[in-house]
Amino acid sequence: MPRGGPDASCLDRLLQTDRQEYLDRDSAGDAGLEQIKRSVIRALDWTGEVFGNHEKFAKIALDEVADVADPRILELGAGHGGLSRKLLEWHPSARLTVTDVEPASVAAIAAGDLGSHPRATVRQMDATALDAADGEFDLAVFALSFHHLPPQLAARAIAEGARVADKLLIIDLPRLPAPLHVLRLAAMLPWAPLVPFLHDGVISSLRAYSPSALRALADDADPAVDIELRGGLLSPQVAVATRR
Ligand SMILES: C[S@@+](CC[C@H](N)C(=O)[O-])C[C@H]1O[C@@H](n2cnc3c(N)ncnc32)[C@H](O)[C@@H]1O
Repeated sequence: MPRGGPDASCLDRLLQTDRQEYLDRDSAGDAGLEQIKRSVIRALDWTGEVFGNHEKFAKIALDEVADVADPRILELGAGHGGLSRKLLEWHPSARLTVTDVEPASVAAIAAGDLGSHPRATVRQMDATALDAADGEFDLAVFALSFHHLPPQLAARAIAEGARVADKLLIIDLPRLPAPLHVLRLAAMLPWAPLVPFLHDGVISSLRAYSPSALRALADDADPAVDIELRGGLLSPQVAVATRR
């Protein structure tokens, strides 16, 4: 299925790629690539702090568990742990399981303050094959990461998230309408070979799923999964998946 959804226009279908971001590449035995990946993760944490994404995403997540006294929250694809840190800071009794598929990111998060936080557990987990029991969490949140997954794995991540948590919250880049998308790419492309964060940003933009794609992926994941979509265009795309 195209990233723009089953009815994507011809132009939109051209604006997608299977090329891997630095973050997706296997850096085992490649210290140079590992350094680049760390720099992208640091840049994501920095932009999350400076442009308020950590706070914005924490608000969206806490709204989803507003009626749960002591929510158990699973963060998938945590990268640097900035969102989990904010959730722990803002909610006095939330328990966080902070995870990522990338061992180096998990090790870096575990070595920082979250590794010794009394209400946090840091673990490696693959969003497409969760090592957790059905209904173990009140909320699973997957921020700025869903586009990393190709459609088949993306559908599996929806099924898995909605299995282990009462709600799966996906927050991701919006897929711009094709003409606007072309303009954004034109502005970013010249810098992409020079700045790893922008290199990954261009590929992320080309891999972002549209609302109709998210709906189709949820249908594919499991007909018993409902998906509610919000935002998009100039704000992050927000999807909440629940199992009936
Ligand atoms: C762009 S970063 C986002 C980091 C952070 N969530 C943020 O908002 O800045 C994408 C993250 O998704 C992780 N990721 C990619 N595939 C994954 C998977 N199958 N399961 C869990 N995490 C995954 C990557 O390792 C990376 O840390």
